[in-house]
Amino acid sequence: MATYVKKQSWSILFRLFHWMYALSIVMLVTTGFYINGPWTNTMIEGSASFPMATMRFMHFVAGYVFASAIIIRAFLYIFGNKQERIWDILPITPRNIKNLFGTILRYAYITEEHETRLGHNVLAGLTYVFTFIIAILMIISGFFMLFPEAPFWEGWGLALFGSQQMGRYIHHLLMWWFMMFAIIHVYLCIWNDVKEPEGIISSIFTGDKFLHKE
Ligand code: HEM
Ligand code: HEM
Repeated sequence: MATYVKKQSWSILFRLFHWMYALSIVMLVTTGFYINGPWTNTMIEGSASFPMATMRFMHFVAGYVFASAIIIRAFLYIFGNKQERIWDILPITPRNIKNLFGTILRYAYITEEHETRLGHNVLAGLTYVFTFIIAILMIISGFFMLFPEAPFWEGWGLALFGSQQMGRYIHHLLMWWFMMFAIIHVYLCIWNDVKEPEGIISSIFTGDKFLHKE
């Protein structure tokens, strides 16, 4: 019978970031779809209620939560615990490079080998860093639309996107990344939980994982 030891993996701040991020994205995608193509009858608008104004307001509130989550994550990349720091995630050490290719082979059902590891596997880590960069583009394009003439947002918005229309277009296109990410992410968390009894899903609530005792 295998024995497992319980180890703290994620700090409370990291878990707070995760749920701010996950829940705000669900809200942003839903209200974003509405802003793009309202599914309510336009006759309601301006009579008893203002569905578009309400949806936009919810989008902006979630936008601020999303931006705050990204600030927390940036802080944790530098000051978080070992698993949360950026160096533990990138394929820059022989161990991490090996883990990256090992994970790809394992996800392709070519090998059953699995490195016992407290933090993310490196394929997951790389995807998260990529998503972090996409999130910054969402924040800049979003605030550029919200405050088109505030010097800070206008400067970054024009520099990166060239115009309001292009900023909006990129904002819309990148939404699809988050939708695909969310589906694959939840699938892979469940897949990992089925494959290894490390308690990966509960770790994002409790902070603790269970590692195989060598
Ligand atoms: C993952 C994050 C986000 C997603 C998925 C998302 C999604 C969307 C979508 C689909 C639209 C409609 C664009 C269109 O007309 O085609 C939109 C509009 C908009 N979003 Fe976001 N958004 C995100 C983050 C943000 C953030 C952080 C802000 C900043 C506050 C923001 C501010 C806006 C603004 C100002 C609009 C335009 C509203 C209007 O013109 O009435 N968004 N968003
Ligand atoms: C039922 C829903 C969810 C569960 C159970 C869940 C679970 C987890 C777990 C266990 C981890 C750590 C996994 C690892 O070690 O690689 C994680 C990380 C992460 N999750 Fe989720 N998640 C959920 C929803 C979401 C959603 C909707 C998003 C955003 C679209 C999201 C974004 C992230 C990100 C970005 C990380 C990496 C954090 C980082 O290191 O920067 N999660 N999640």
